[in-house]
Amino acid sequence: MPAVDVPLLPAPSQLVVTSGQFTFDERTSLKAAPGTEAVAALLRELLAPATGLPLPTTADGQVTFALDPTLTALGREGYGLTVTPDAILLYAADPTGLLRGVQTLRQLLPSDVLAGRPVRGVAWTLPCVRITDVPRYAWRGAMLDVARHFQPAAYIRRFIDLLALHKLNTLHLHLTDDQGWRMPVAAYSKLTEIGARRAETRGDGIPHGGSYTRSELSGLVAHAAARGVTLVPEIDMPGHVRAALAAYPELGNDPDRRLDVWTEWGVSDQVLGVHDQALDFCRTVLDEVMDTFPSPYIHVGGDECPTGEWAARSEARSRARAEGLAGPEQLHGWFMGRVGEFLVRRGRKPLGWYEDGVTLPCSFTVLPWRDAADGLAAARRGHEVVMAPHRATYFDYAESASRQEPPAQPGPPIGLDAVHAFRPAADWEPEAAGQVLGTQAQLWTEYLPTPAHIEYRAFPRLCALAENAWSAPRPWPDFAHRLRHHRVRLHALGVPLHPPRREPRLPAFERRHIVDFSPS
Ligand code: ACM
Repeated sequence: MPAVDVPLLPAPSQLVVTSGQFTFDERTSLKAAPGTEAVAALLRELLAPATGLPLPTTADGQVTFALDPTLTALGREGYGLTVTPDAILLYAADPTGLLRGVQTLRQLLPSDVLAGRPVRGVAWTLPCVRITDVPRYAWRGAMLDVARHFQPAAYIRRFIDLLALHKLNTLHLHLTDDQGWRMPVAAYSKLTEIGARRAETRGDGIPHGGSYTRSELSGLVAHAAARGVTLVPEIDMPGHVRAALAAYPELGNDPDRRLDVWTEWGVSDQVLGVHDQALDFCRTVLDEVMDTFPSPYIHVGGDECPTGEWAARSEARSRARAEGLAGPEQLHGWFMGRVGEFLVRRGRKPLGWYEDGVTLPCSFTVLPWRDAADGLAAARRGHEVVMAPHRATYFDYAESASRQEPPAQPGPPIGLDAVHAFRPAADWEPEAAGQVLGTQAQLWTEYLPTPAHIEYRAFPRLCALAENAWSAPRPWPDFAHRLRHHRVRLHALGVPLHPPRREPRLPAFERRHIVDFSPS
């Protein structure tokens, strides 16, 4: 008998294929031990659209969800799964582990199970297996920039579902930047009234805008939590704030200057002032962010902040002197320190982008984004590190040099092989490697206006990143083999695996609604 192929992605820690198969049908029911009811409900919800199966919860269900806190070797996210011809047992020490196991069950079923519509004539069988699966890294994620191009909450829910399928557990939402402010703040209503709309994008003549309501954001937090995904919000400061300065010029360094929400992209010289009014603004915004997002980590940016405005303004130079700093260029570290302290006092962990030459307090967990070597330097300084080096994790660069590729961030392509080859802490000494929490992909959206563009750029490179973050390293042929099967799953989900079609020149917020996810 030929060996049964079980092409899970990411690969599980241990997999044994046993004989036979289990079939979900009209008679199948779920048995949910106390504390696992929500996980059983999620499996039911995820299987229903394609299978139409009711999968009720009963006392003698064939599919058992069990919790055993003594299984400490599984950690918070590990799980065990035993499939026999008559029964399925999914067990974990924590419900989060069961959520990871649910995604494995989805991948073991025929790929049609992932279609968001009824599929007839398919036997919903899965091979009998024994799996024990524990993640390599605790932080496995993706950053989605909704500031350059806004995406509606309905799309963010889909994106969260795609992350969960790949056992990614963190969605970092980049909510503010020079080109748009998406987070409502009651005390500063002009942030979204003015700061959420950009007149055009690099000369295209098409206005673009959008912002979330507080209840949409809370809904996203709940949707993500039900799938074991944490939403980490980012409010970028003290640079990348032109959208805020367009709404409130007094927060900057020249209250008389009028700025637009930026229609270009890059690094704007206009940054927050270092006066009390700017710091009060940050604290008020962050209080509202913390009310909305329960995430232990709050990202406060810190990247690409020119200090020229501070050097040019006597008020800023006085602030530097009053704080005992050697010069205005040190105001960046001082500013981030004040904001970081504020978060720590409220029981949260500050997160920031890390660049060589920029000093953040050690209380910051950092994302080194330029080079992997910066990550090692940050770890040696004592920072906890989430590796985000741009040449392995910035998926807004094209994947190939093909002329079919839609516009991308200018620069050499980043191939799937480069992402697969990336090791978050390759050759680091154990103390430094121990500071690495994990890794995440970056989807900056200046060149990704629609969900179709986002997904075309994200996949399949996000599959390789998920594998690096969850699984022990495997050789390329092993990964490539499983990815061939996994592409069928992505197709069933409507993830565009070919360049998005040219779209009519409509305002982006209308254009979004004509993008569908039917497989092309
Ligand atoms: C960044 O790419 N500015 C974090």
